Amino acid sequence: MQARHPERVDLTDRLRQFELLLNSVTDYAIYMLDAEGYVRSWNAGGERIKGYRQEEIEGTHYSAFYLPEDVAQGIPMKNLHIAEREGRFAGEGWRLRKDGSRFRASVVIDPIWDAGELVGFAKVTRDITERYLAEQRLEKARQDLLQSQKMEAVGKLTLGLAHDFNNLLTIIINSLDVIDTRAQNEKVSEMVLTALRASERGILLSRQLLTFGRGQNLVPERVDLNRLIESGKDLYRRCAGSAVSVFFDLAPDLPMIDVDRGQFEASLLNLVSNARDAMPSGGALYLTSFHCVKANPADPEHRQREYVCVAVKDTGVGISAEQQAQVFDPFFTTKPIGRGSGLGLSQVHGFAAQSGGFAELESGLGAGTTVTLHFPLPGAFT
Ligand SMILES: Nc1ncnc2c1ncn2[C@@H]1O[C@H](COP(=O)(O)OP(=O)(O)OP(=O)(O)O)[C@@H](O)[C@H]1O
Ligand SMILES: [Mg+2]
Repeated sequence: MQARHPERVDLTDRLRQFELLLNSVTDYAIYMLDAEGYVRSWNAGGERIKGYRQEEIEGTHYSAFYLPEDVAQGIPMKNLHIAEREGRFAGEGWRLRKDGSRFRASVVIDPIWDAGELVGFAKVTRDITERYLAEQRLEKARQDLLQSQKMEAVGKLTLGLAHDFNNLLTIIINSLDVIDTRAQNEKVSEMVLTALRASERGILLSRQLLTFGRGQNLVPERVDLNRLIESGKDLYRRCAGSAVSVFFDLAPDLPMIDVDRGQFEASLLNLVSNARDAMPSGGALYLTSFHCVKANPADPEHRQREYVCVAVKDTGVGISAEQQAQVFDPFFTTKPIGRGSGLGLSQVHGFAAQSGGFAELESGLGAGTTVTLHFPLPGAFT
């Protein structure tokens, strides 16, 4: 036969039991407010969560737990009125501990009625900071994933379109070339030239799209830079236009380096088209390659390093000292709308830096411009 607990609890013991119960709940602050919102009772959970001892907090208005901006908007009293009117207030928000630190609180307020008269409120608060922050982190991770999936999809689409675009433009350019050689009329030649210019600008744009589509990730390959330049000679000559004489001076026996072919080509096209625009009535463009030992100006330790360099030099209008500081900024352009996006030199700069090297600009008003790309020899320090 089971032993029975003796019925030994009188009313005062019940109160004691109730107090013990409330104080053994330490994950919840459970306390009573009077009808005006002053704290009238407090439990161990309240002390653990909010930091006040019972004797400190009893008699204090419960708005002490709210942030000053919430108090300024009268939110503590509004919440009590909602509880009174609707029979309960439940909410979540930031609250203050005694030491001034904030915690995320889940709050329930119930009105206490006695013979139809409001005598106070029962309030239960839970510290849900950890759960809240974990949810926020999860949400952020979800958003980041979504964003990167979106970017990947846009990148793939762009990549596909850029390739198609490039192929179509190549057909257009080849056809225009044929028309040009057969044109017997100067007017027609002029129109063909305009169409060629526009198509070449299209090629340049499609290269930028390819770069974007690859997510700016370089795909470096070990290359002989001179061979890379040689293979694009026609493209560069064409891009420079017939008014500009193009000279190549490539140093023999250059060491191999690691670069992304597509981006290298895009960089040279950007530099050559800038040079062309700087020489509206013609001039000379020098494309040179050479080996040098130098320190990257961005290296605080000024360490000397071996580089293979490519310089694009023009005899154009040059760039003022003031503008030299801005030309590498994305979207900086002095060209009319539709002629320049201001992204050319920032692509050049970004590509050189991502390849472990740097781009250098030398210019003066009326003195022409030289942009030199420096690519480090593989294996040396980075
Ligand atoms: N070789 C150069 N000679 C004179 N000015 C130049 C030269 N290269 C660049 N600039 C100046 O720097 C600006 C920025 O060049 P960048 O290549 O970044 O953009 P853009 O040529 O204006 O436009 P986009 O290259 O997108 O068509 C140009 O608008 C021009 O004022
Ligand atoms: Mg440009």
